Amino acid sequence: MKIGIICGHEMPALIKNPESLSVETPYDKVKVKISKNYGHDLFFINRHGENGNIPPHKINYHSNIQAFNSCHIDCIFSVGTVGSMKTKIKPSDFVIPHDFVDNTKLRKPSFFDDSRVHVDMSSPFCPALRELLISKCKEIKKIVIHSNGVYLCTEGPRLETVSEIKIFSQVADIVGMTNVPEVILAREVGICYASLCVVCNMAAGLQNRLAANEISSVYGKLEPIVSEVLENAIKSINEKKDCNCRKIVSEASI
Ligand code: HPA
Repeated sequence: MKIGIICGHEMPALIKNPESLSVETPYDKVKVKISKNYGHDLFFINRHGENGNIPPHKINYHSNIQAFNSCHIDCIFSVGTVGSMKTKIKPSDFVIPHDFVDNTKLRKPSFFDDSRVHVDMSSPFCPALRELLISKCKEIKKIVIHSNGVYLCTEGPRLETVSEIKIFSQVADIVGMTNVPEVILAREVGICYASLCVVCNMAAGLQNRLAANEISSVYGKLEPIVSEVLENAIKSINEKKDCNCRKIVSEASI
């Protein structure tokens, strides 16, 4: 299978001896690292660009997902850091979100700009890929896994205010800056997509002042586990997934 992995950090433990490819899209060029492993072709994109320095509000989400689509990827594992808005979800826990709330402000939300296409979002993350990630997380005893969660996506790049988190926490569990519109665009091109969210901090007001390097340092400690979860998921992925992700967009046009 052709498996896409998108993350804000490089993954040398998973993407071994990669070949680099520059994929042209109508939106921008994308650097894709390709590695043959575990009987599959793995396609890795750093969502923050080749040098990892593009901030969340300037990421070209369209070119990243279009590059995967041009490479005929079957499914995408997305990895991202989040803050927790619920006391039962703690730093170092993993969450596999089942839904999202879009609080972004400036991002182009869709591939469909010139036609009326309304893609169903009642189950935005691929249920089969989510189950796979959940089961592989559960096999690793040293982590706490939340097999459901609502992801609220902010525009960033700033972190949230205490009052924003009070509002957001009424409708969502975790807060991050990159899942939207990634998850929407993947659904619009019919690619299965699931997200492995690594909780790096409590959101504003639920812990003392938050330094951005705390997020990276917590993620750095958990990175080997992220690679282990993905490696195990890739090893046992089933070509015939029980989901409708390919079909949903075909029913979306007016
Ligand atoms: N807010 C938004 N994005 C994040 C956070 C946060 O608290 N932690 C990691 N990514």
